[in-house]
Amino acid sequence: MRKLNNILVTGGAGFIGSNFIDYLFNKVSIKGKVVNVDKLTYAGNMENLEHINKKYGPSGENRYFFEKTDIVDYESLSKVFSKYDIDTVIHFAAESHVDRSIHGPKEFMETNIIGTFNLLEVVRKLWGDRKDVLFHHISTDEVYGSLDETGFFYENTPYDPRNPYSASKASADHIVNSYFHTYGLPITMSNCSNNYGPLQFPEKLIPIMINNMLEEKALPVYGDGLNIRDWLYVEDHCSGIWKIVNNGTIGETYNLGGENEWTNIDLLNHLCEIVAEKRDKEKDYYKKLITYVRDRAGHDRRYAINCDKIKSELNWKQSVTFDEGLDITVDWYLSNTSWIENIKTGEYKKWIEKNYN
Ligand code: NAD
Ligand code: DAU
Repeated sequence: MRKLNNILVTGGAGFIGSNFIDYLFNKVSIKGKVVNVDKLTYAGNMENLEHINKKYGPSGENRYFFEKTDIVDYESLSKVFSKYDIDTVIHFAAESHVDRSIHGPKEFMETNIIGTFNLLEVVRKLWGDRKDVLFHHISTDEVYGSLDETGFFYENTPYDPRNPYSASKASADHIVNSYFHTYGLPITMSNCSNNYGPLQFPEKLIPIMINNMLEEKALPVYGDGLNIRDWLYVEDHCSGIWKIVNNGTIGETYNLGGENEWTNIDLLNHLCEIVAEKRDKEKDYYKKLITYVRDRAGHDRRYAINCDKIKSELNWKQSVTFDEGLDITVDWYLSNTSWIENIKTGEYKKWIEKNYN
């Protein structure tokens, strides 16, 4: 029986990680402790979890703890594990943006590969043969490569990563699997498609476009705009992870996706209309900002997930439609402009330096 008492979440200050920690406390009302291990890179934002820290942190219920730690630093990581009696690891921490990986792949290799390896080594030594523990690894559908107009990614689709980010994630996935086969470490893994929702860093497609509309800046579409992505609302990703962590079969991988494919240009046109309506502009107002720019190097053409396995084995399904999810997301960005402003002006950076260094 899995304990799930003391959960260590890596990358909990990022987009999905912070949504996940909120999900643990506010949606599934966990009873145990959560330790958030995050290096606070440009993508980590303590503001995302201020409300959690207030209620569940050391001056509240004392069940939420933050440790500013780099997973590439083995010694510091070991110290965190020896401070808390960790029985579950849910590993989100990563360099996550494809464009950045093209311009500077080194950090991707360090964090995504060596960081994952360090975590595995710490738990292998700490947990020994225990079977009441779990290492859940968060991965991406990008490891499967790129599809043409037809077909889907299945859990047994051969890996074919094509950019430094996806290659680093694929390497990490293989290492995680090797720890299951070689050492019997209890692991599960999930490979998910594109997430969207509140708290996503304004470098990814949906938030960058909303932000640029608000600033009346160009909306840069890579290539011909016909690349296809499958979009899943972030809370549905969180619920899928939680199902796997509770009931997933040890050693297994589960695909997660929205079954919701859009070309980038169709999605952008749709988003332009949603933002225009919410800001009392005429329907096509923001579309004039759409600008075709040079394509991303090695741009994967299409991602599409088959997620029948988690649906049938673990009774998971998406609960938020794309219309509902986009509505919530756009509303969130429109009413949290200071969140983006803090990121852009460096206020946030100063805040971290003052409080966490
Ligand atoms: P993000 O970039 O928003 O957040 C990453 C977090 O990891 C940040 O808080 C950052 O500070 C932290 N981090 C980075 N390097 C670290 C290090 N060396 N040590 C400790 N912490 C470090 O990423 P995200 O979009 O929330 O993605 C989270 C995970 O989900 C990643 O593993 C990513 O590959 C995977 N994923 C993301 C998506 C998506 O659409 N965003 C889809 C499928 C899978
Ligand atoms: O599929 C899962 C992956 O989804 C995750 O593993 C990654 O961490 C996450 O970043 C995301 O990768 P993508 O490269 O698909 O996401 P991004 O938002 O960067 O781009 C989505 C699509 O939009 C892609 O085809 C590139 C295009 N794009 C993106 C940006 C930022 C543009 O046309 N213009 C842009 O400005």
